[in-house]
Amino acid sequence: MFKTCVKWLFFTSQMTDNLVVCAVTSDAIDKAQRLARRLDLPFNSAPHYAPISLMVSAEDVSYKHPNFVTPFRVNFTNGPIAARISRGLTKREPLVKALALDPLRPSHILDATAGFGRDAMLIARYGQQITMLEKHAVIHELLADGLSRAFEQDEFCNLFTYPPDLIHSLAQQYLVAADKPVDVIYLDPMYPRRNKNLKVKKESQILQLLSKDMEHEDDHTDLLTWACSLARKRVVVKRPSWAEPLTKSLPTTAIYNQNTRYDVYIV
Ligand SMILES: C[S@@+](CC[C@H](N)C(=O)[O-])C[C@H]1O[C@@H](n2cnc3c(N)ncnc32)[C@H](O)[C@@H]1O
Repeated sequence: MFKTCVKWLFFTSQMTDNLVVCAVTSDAIDKAQRLARRLDLPFNSAPHYAPISLMVSAEDVSYKHPNFVTPFRVNFTNGPIAARISRGLTKREPLVKALALDPLRPSHILDATAGFGRDAMLIARYGQQITMLEKHAVIHELLADGLSRAFEQDEFCNLFTYPPDLIHSLAQQYLVAADKPVDVIYLDPMYPRRNKNLKVKKESQILQLLSKDMEHEDDHTDLLTWACSLARKRVVVKRPSWAEPLTKSLPTTAIYNQNTRYDVYIV
């Protein structure tokens, strides 16, 4: 059975305001306290009184916020993303074309902005070796939890040729292993905000809530320059179709998909 490789590189204490860690049941208290220490967050022994919290049970870690009726956890084995992973991408899909994926000749793809890992898992399912990088400690934690639960199931493992790696790191601090050069870098930074009334998926709302304290740090020029200097073949940036390219540097080509555009930089 494949195991997701989760490496811990560095942690930051810049966290969402008021976020605390709670144990849902008494058998999860140790686990919750360890997580609180690791994330440098307060542990709260009274989960019902904490409006915004990471809820730890023996089985999972979920994010509770008053904007949502139920706590959120990353789940690759249920719901629409599970169905997409099970179906797999076809060679005609814009993401496959943009990344120039070939299941018979797997590439090493670095998803340098992993978020909740949905794109990365679809790419991995297409027979590619993928390394995910996520800079935000809480987002990384929720993703690591979702991956480990999913990869505990043999049926799920069997969908993948290569187990994905997940690393908690700022992309620009990633150290490439000599035996695993990076062919393609995929970037999906947070979308620019346009219309506050537009309906956004729950996952995207949570990513926005969690990362709003770190958004001011985003330096897209630095990120794209770093990616273009590291990738051996290409860099692909996911953008809303209405948005400008990520930086002043123009892509070599672009692939369109309904509301999304993939800007391709051949390096
Ligand atoms: C829009 S989300 C990505 C969503 C993802 N493609 C998915 O399918 O779930 C962007 C993520 O990139 C992370 N991020 C942004 N800049 C980063 C950087 N320089 N290094 C690592 N992670 C970064 C943010 O913390 C956020 O979680």
